[in-house]
Amino acid sequence: MRQKIVAANWKMNTHYMSGIKLLSEIVPMIGDEVTADVKVIIAPPFIHLYSASQLMNGNRKVFLGAQNCFYEEKGPYTGEISAAMLASVGVKYVIVGHSERRKFFNEDDAIISKKILQVLEHNMQGIYCCGETLEQREARKHKEIVAKQIETALFGLSKERVQKIIIAYEPVWAIGTGVNATPEQAQEMHAYIRSLIEKKFGENISKEISIIYGGSVTPNNAKSLFSCPDVDGGLVGGASLIARDFVSIVKAAG
Ligand code: PGA
Repeated sequence: MRQKIVAANWKMNTHYMSGIKLLSEIVPMIGDEVTADVKVIIAPPFIHLYSASQLMNGNRKVFLGAQNCFYEEKGPYTGEISAAMLASVGVKYVIVGHSERRKFFNEDDAIISKKILQVLEHNMQGIYCCGETLEQREARKHKEIVAKQIETALFGLSKERVQKIIIAYEPVWAIGTGVNATPEQAQEMHAYIRSLIEKKFGENISKEISIIYGGSVTPNNAKSLFSCPDVDGGLVGGASLIARDFVSIVKAAG
């Protein structure tokens, strides 16, 4: 049985107090209301990580994620945060390759691969984001694009290491737009990604790896997306900033 996962990506939202408030609302609700075997990951801005890890300490359903890290171990990289730093405050998962990082920070496949290695080196798991733009989908190149992203970021990993990766399929045109992929579109791409993993790493690993969907997931569409056989949960942006909405999305994965 593959692990069902719902991850919150708060992006550059919340201040210190509002973030802690949001977390203090979400964590007990997950404990009380979510009975099924869904793993919940919350990736708040860096300023929250230490307090969040205190708040989640020992929680067996909710885990701490980070939205980014740098690819060097340490040194003169003003403003950057290393994987070792994240691990030292209790981070277990790091989002890598998000389309906003590719777009606004020019992160290419080479940078992203180095970041994945740092995350794994420090015994955390990577949430690797991939997905096509609208132009690429309209040109019917979406599978080709996603295949290239998966190959460059993941095919160099060993079998042991690739099992520490959660893949997030996030079509760029669906992120923050209110236009989610249809369950059919999501299922088609997730099954395709799984077939790529199978070809490279074998059937067992392809059956075990969690592939989650991101892009305008809401309480209204979560159930239909998560019911697809190859969709193992979601990566949630906007709707993760409202405790009640996020918790109902988590419940939809159960
Ligand atoms: P969204 O963002 O849910 O606001 O579309 C998803 C993401 O970027 O991870």
